[in-house]
Amino acid sequence: MFNYDAPADLLQNKVILVTGAGSGIGRTAALTYARHGATVILLGRTISKLEAVYDEIENNGWPQAAIYPMNLEGAREQDYASLAATLEREFGHLDGLLNNAGLLGELKPIAQYDAETWHRVMQVNLNAPFLLTRELLPLLRTAEQASVIFTSSTVGHEGRANWGAYSVSKFATEGLMQTLADEEDGISQVRINSLNPGATRTAMRATAFPAEASDASAPPEEIMPLYLYLIGKDSLGVSGKAFHAQR
Ligand SMILES: NC(=O)c1ccc[n+]([C@@H]2O[C@H](COP(=O)([O-])OP(=O)(O)OC[C@H]3O[C@@H](n4cnc5c(N)ncnc54)[C@H](OP(=O)(O)O)[C@@H]3O)[C@@H](O)[C@H]2O)c1
Repeated sequence: MFNYDAPADLLQNKVILVTGAGSGIGRTAALTYARHGATVILLGRTISKLEAVYDEIENNGWPQAAIYPMNLEGAREQDYASLAATLEREFGHLDGLLNNAGLLGELKPIAQYDAETWHRVMQVNLNAPFLLTRELLPLLRTAEQASVIFTSSTVGHEGRANWGAYSVSKFATEGLMQTLADEEDGISQVRINSLNPGATRTAMRATAFPAEASDASAPPEEIMPLYLYLIGKDSLGVSGKAFHAQR
């Protein structure tokens, strides 16, 4: 497990956007960031789930969150521009972006892979983080120490039979991370890294490994040290790197 002990006030006065914040790893990351002082923008497609996270943050007395409903599968370029304009108007700055939302698609050989599913997975896992990050980059550049995290996977580093569009989207995510990090190097303070959570106990994991015992993978809370390290100031100057939460 990645080892990092975050100070309680690590993210005080920081504004951080988390995609897929209503469930799974994104929910836990949003709560963890809020617990460390951040104002978290909860982006996701299921409003009831986002509201539950919002309420949990409020009930704990952490900084008030904001809900931004958005379906990354159907969103158009204009929707991302509207989001950027709203954030600039409401918050004036953005210190962190966790591209977390993801779609597993189907586990099938490429030879039988459904084209529509391929496009949906690419849309959510690759095209949406590209558009979101591109539109938010001007705002991120105005922050002193902004951090962007792209969520990768073990199958984004090594191809594995039957992981189809999901695996390919995560390889491409690594490419997006490296390309953008190289471009920002020297022209802005924005650091860009990828994070592979490793086997984590969520709905996605249960779908991919239905026969696996529920305690065979780490609960999302256990992998949070890396999420905190990469979004907070202790990773200042670290950019263009691929991190693994569990090795
Ligand atoms: N769990 C693992 O073992 C594991 C391992 C490696 C990498 N990852 C990566 O970690 C990230 C989080 O995965 P997870 O395990 O937490 O998955 P999950 O439990 O399936 O959660 C995925 C999240 O993405 C959201 N989402 C999906 N499609 C969306 C869309 N079209 N628009 C907006 N939001 C959408 C979901 O919202 P709803 O709840 O509303 O559906 C949900 O909040 C993903 O990028 C995944 O690829 C996970």
